[in-house]
Amino acid sequence: MDYFEYREGQLWAEEVRVAELVERFGTPLYIYSAKTLTRHFLAFDAALKGLDHLTCFSVKANSNVNLLRHLGTLGAGVDIVSGGELYRAVRAGIAPAKIVFSGVGKQAHEIREALSAGILMFNVESSQELECIGRIAQEMQTVARISIRINPDVDPKTHPYISTGLKENKFGLDMLEATGAYLMARKHPFLDPVGMDCHIGSQLTQIGPIVEALEKLLVFTDRLHASGIAIRYLDLGGGLGITYDDEQPPLPADLGRAISTALAGRELTVILEPGRAIAGNAGIMVTRVLYTKKTPMKHFVIVDAAMNDLVRPSLYGAYHRICEVTPTDRGLMTVDVVGPICESGDFLAQNRLLPALAPGDTLAVFSAGAYGFSMASQYNSRPRSAEVLVDGEKSLLVRRRETYEDLIALEVE
Ligand code: LLP
Repeated sequence: MDYFEYREGQLWAEEVRVAELVERFGTPLYIYSAKTLTRHFLAFDAALKGLDHLTCFSVKANSNVNLLRHLGTLGAGVDIVSGGELYRAVRAGIAPAKIVFSGVGKQAHEIREALSAGILMFNVESSQELECIGRIAQEMQTVARISIRINPDVDPKTHPYISTGLKENKFGLDMLEATGAYLMARKHPFLDPVGMDCHIGSQLTQIGPIVEALEKLLVFTDRLHASGIAIRYLDLGGGLGITYDDEQPPLPADLGRAISTALAGRELTVILEPGRAIAGNAGIMVTRVLYTKKTPMKHFVIVDAAMNDLVRPSLYGAYHRICEVTPTDRGLMTVDVVGPICESGDFLAQNRLLPALAPGDTLAVFSAGAYGFSMASQYNSRPRSAEVLVDGEKSLLVRRRETYEDLIALEVE
């Protein structure tokens, strides 16, 4: 559920008219709803009540410092995958004790930064990485808390680009290698093996694969326990899907129930790393129609947002619902909604039934709050769009639109 809705013949973001935001800030424009973020975060929190738990928002989904700060005030931790995300999280006031660090390619300087900050744990993805963390912790004379990311080899039944828990994927260690890693960590004076984690994929629409992975992990924690390694944190990653079109993904409460059942009687702190399920439907992107164009094959609607602003349709063939900001009763047409970028792959929608559009009309692209702005680029030297956070009747510019000067600011002339 989100707080973007049509009332009085137009689209509202909470108590603010989207058309008013467009007048003030221009297009393309990302608009986020604070109330929706709160609602989604609290849904995870409530789903795990009764268990020791920590909900770590996955920063890669939406890394705007203001959003992170908003989630932080609700008690969120974060899942980071780079020194840059650590920097953002710390700037947003997230307590280091609530930060987990994932990713297959952590660099030495990033490991040092995370150890200095005092993060909760590193989700380790290879034996070499574990050795590297041990070496750096020793140099710094500090103990690194670690979790080993297990590749449980389960099929998450999602897009192959966002499946991460199959044995052909680059993520995590299989259980045999993980056993060696845990034994090495136990003996190492500067490593403390406190956790076990997995993340099997994203936009999951079934709970079954997550439970299957969880059960494999529990069997493994029992085996480790027998060798004197007591796992305290079980991090199940993110991945819960959202409704873009007509998907009916499980709710956080469904996931919470399944986890609670599986963990009954165990003393483990559960960590989840949701990104999309918190931010996805808490954001829209608004774009303006520049031209319409009819060719012998197609009707094109050319808008001012492009694949550099929202790459998901081009990259994954992802569906995003598109509607007029101010609905009309014009007849429907099948169109491709395309951007100004010089690539045929630059589209926001293909063969979409939309009211006949005209230059100047504004369109809302829904479910754009996750992996929208965070994946944006300046391709074709297009300044990145502005971002606005709406909270009730208030709207706050949380990132200004880039300028031409911004485009070349780092270039050395
Ligand atoms: N934890 C780890 C270790 C991850 O790799 C990811 C996402 C998450 C948590 C958060 O997953 P979520 O709850 O958002 O599904 N750009 C793609 C999605 C890539 C997801 C990568 N990893 C998209 O636009 O669909």
